[in-house]
Amino acid sequence: MVTTTRTQDLASQLADSSLFRTKGFVNGQWVDASDGLSFTVTNPATGEKLGEMPNMPRSQIQEAIVASKTAFPLWAKLTAHQRQGYLLKLFQAMEENANDLALILTAENGKPFAEAKGEIAYGAGFVSWFAAEAVRTYGHTVPSPFPNTRNTVIKQPVGVCGLITPWNFPNAMITRKMAPALAAGCTMVIKAPAETPLSALAMCALAERVGIPPGVVNCVTVEKGEREAACGLELCENVNVSKISFTGSTPVGRLLMKQSSGTLKKLSFELGGNAAFIVFDDADLNLAIEGVIASKFRAGGQTCVCANRIFVHAKVYDEFASRLAKKVKAFKPTVLVDVPKECAIASEETFGPLAALFKFEDEDDVVVRANDSEVGLAGYFYTKDVSRTYRVAEKLQVGMVAVNTGVIAQTCVPFGGVKQSGFGREGGKSGIDEYMIEKLITIGGI
Ligand code: SIN
Repeated sequence: MVTTTRTQDLASQLADSSLFRTKGFVNGQWVDASDGLSFTVTNPATGEKLGEMPNMPRSQIQEAIVASKTAFPLWAKLTAHQRQGYLLKLFQAMEENANDLALILTAENGKPFAEAKGEIAYGAGFVSWFAAEAVRTYGHTVPSPFPNTRNTVIKQPVGVCGLITPWNFPNAMITRKMAPALAAGCTMVIKAPAETPLSALAMCALAERVGIPPGVVNCVTVEKGEREAACGLELCENVNVSKISFTGSTPVGRLLMKQSSGTLKKLSFELGGNAAFIVFDDADLNLAIEGVIASKFRAGGQTCVCANRIFVHAKVYDEFASRLAKKVKAFKPTVLVDVPKECAIASEETFGPLAALFKFEDEDDVVVRANDSEVGLAGYFYTKDVSRTYRVAEKLQVGMVAVNTGVIAQTCVPFGGVKQSGFGREGGKSGIDEYMIEKLITIGGI
């Protein structure tokens, strides 16, 4: 098995070189930019060129939206079981091509091959999860206060979706949106990240291969800067796009929300985090050190749920700090101890392999400090006390709490935040609802 990539000949390293695509995917066609412009994608580890990608003008984003709108009635009309069939085939195609997908991902994102393989499994997990959910979009009936009236609530796909995804998980952040959208009966325009478009396009190649009809999945590519801004604006302002799902920074989330206000789109945003990781004095320190390493250093510290502020009880602080530093010496990261609370790291997301340790003495105080953030995505704590487990979990102002584990992400649970970490949930039971609307049918005269 190949575990490293020499990027100039990435295509030739793949068992199936047709997964290496350097054109956009619009209405079932592989296309260059209509005005011929392009931009270069490079391997961040080596700086080597991976490919020239179409730098599409705004008019081409409009074409992709039209294609998606045209495909919508046909895709929405399929039975849920038919859409499930496509998703199961897509899952199988991902499994069969996992090695190639991981090679592409490593080359354009730079994460180690083993992590890339893990991400492909995680990404495929969303496809299998939502294949199962496709046939469970139950409606409900509601007793009416009027004697001759009956109420039924059904769920329907929201329509064309604009999916805007980040570079840190080039595969899984696509499938986390694409799979529920497909399952619900929506069509989509994916705006691939400028840094990592190849993984998105490889997914389009698989979607095409398993027979998903033209126009259902479209993927546009744009260079950072003017054309990226124009693409985001078009997706937000175009009246034919009914929903935007975005994973990225809080400032960009605010901008997209503003831009979507004219057309009042359904939105779900997974934005920045600033996770507190609290080690109480009764914690199992072995478990806590294992957990903080899993959380802090996953993807090189470049996830929204990475531990950002590590609060350690004064009684175990020195032991924890020295044991963590010993472990971390084996990597290229840094551990900072006794960080003053005025430091930028106390309030800003680091997005890198830097572990900042703060001392605390009191449960109430540490909860206040943990909540002292404008964002609220994930929070972690370690304790053996069951009462404290509920007390602290309920008080943390975040969308996800992990107790005695550093791993939150699973396809089967809702992922999302509160405060300025955004709204909406991805994965889990509620993930498909982000792509559906509830419609009431009330019947009188019975
Ligand atoms: C993210 O960093 O946005 C997602 C991380 C995850 O799914 O665990």
